Amino acid sequence: MRVHHIGYLVKKGEKAAAAFEALGYVREGDWTRDEYRKVDILFVQKDGYRVELVCPFAPDSVVSGLIKTYKNAPYHICYESERFAAELAELEAGGYLRIDEPAPAPAIGGRRVSFLLHPALGMIELLEGAG
Ligand code: NI
Repeated sequence: MRVHHIGYLVKKGEKAAAAFEALGYVREGDWTRDEYRKVDILFVQKDGYRVELVCPFAPDSVVSGLIKTYKNAPYHICYESERFAAELAELEAGGYLRIDEPAPAPAIGGRRVSFLLHPALGMIELLEGAG
């Protein structure tokens, strides 16, 4: 597994993107709308770090509860796996609770992702490798 990005909740997408740019981050592509999760996503990069800005566009988005608690803040690290199904099973066997079914992520070329929770570590995202 390799770190792919850090997921970062933001309430105001464009204002957040501009603030990241002012710190020297560079946009990777444009905002992508994820209709399934009801969030808009933009990747930005700096110094080899990739940050995923996640901005809900509807009150029933997957992160609407989280954003009330955390405001604008990082909330998950995503790991890319070349053995997606096997590694998902290994994580579950190792104490992670899978909180959704693997589903395509439009902002990452339709590759599948799944979120998991660990009692001591919190939330991670597992991303299917590009193959
Ligand atoms: Ni993510």
